[in-house]
Amino acid sequence: MNERSGPRVFVTRRLPGDALSRLAGEVELDLWQEARPPGPEELRQHTREAEGLLCLLCDRVDEALLAASPRLRVISSYSVGVDHLDLAAATARGIPVGHTPGVLTETTADLAFALLLAAARRIPEADRFVREGHWQLQQGWQPHLLLGRDVHGATLGILGLGPIGRAVARRARGFDMRVIGWTPSGRHVPGIELMGLEEVLEHSDFVSLHLALAAGTRGLLDGGRLRRMKRGAILVNTARGGIVDEAELARALCEGRLAAAALDVFSREPLEPDSPLLRAPNLVLAPHIGSASVATREAMAEQAVRNLLAGLRGERLPHCANPEVYAPAGGGEPSGGSGGPQRSRKSRGAATRAPR
Ligand code: DGY
Repeated sequence: MNERSGPRVFVTRRLPGDALSRLAGEVELDLWQEARPPGPEELRQHTREAEGLLCLLCDRVDEALLAASPRLRVISSYSVGVDHLDLAAATARGIPVGHTPGVLTETTADLAFALLLAAARRIPEADRFVREGHWQLQQGWQPHLLLGRDVHGATLGILGLGPIGRAVARRARGFDMRVIGWTPSGRHVPGIELMGLEEVLEHSDFVSLHLALAAGTRGLLDGGRLRRMKRGAILVNTARGGIVDEAELARALCEGRLAAAALDVFSREPLEPDSPLLRAPNLVLAPHIGSASVATREAMAEQAVRNLLAGLRGERLPHCANPEVYAPAGGGEPSGGSGGPQRSRKSRGAATRAPR
């Protein structure tokens, strides 16, 4: 901890780039030094006296943590997704929650498309084949070796048509794919044929998930819906693991109903050694690296620090996941001045989702 020089802030991990250096002189910084995340009790200990919290998507910020942190005035998450946070509880306490939309859209769409290609063309398998010495001179070039699925000309179904879903659609059009989609809001997006959820599943050669995890999307792709997918289709998930029933997905792969899947996200992270997914064939795995480019992770750090400092100064957060925190109690026009949140308790009907 540095000398007392401003509001106390707990930052739960070192971040790429030098955004955190901008906190020097502005706050009394408590920076978690270890590579592992703080456990729940450690998080509580460090947040107890803090006025600001900068956390990651693996730090659980629930009602109990908020109740134990009476001085907390702003939470800034180094993520676009906010399903690890109890947004309604934060709103009820008048605490604005910052997140990092926008800066990671294209990078995450790049990974979704990379996974789609890797699964379709069996690239990880091909790499292992060569490294493990199976590509023998006597067999030479083989007509049947590692046959995959064509991406060009295929139909891509996108579930969730927010910024990342739309960025994946743009890439797909470059590959001459037909793009169909479903979104819970039913909002029309130019260039994407809107259909019902089941219809998208039935017509798609590839399905890519771009939904936030919320009450309405948890377990959305259950056994029944996975069975609605075309035989031989490929599923890609770079959104949140909790959207898919993983045991049912493993079964669909083992039974050969799906040709392949590619997952960057899991219901429990890190993926547990006894996960049925680890025994499923034709599955490409990545350790939640959707936004993991140098430039994007640095931009996320900048955005997270900007949100944190704005909240500590009582200013409106540039990227707020619970903007209803600024609504005046009882409705009417928001108060003028700083644009800071209302500190009175708010209704618990706060939004539980942030756009992805
Ligand atoms: C996020 O920010 O929510 C992403 O999942 C990180 O890649």
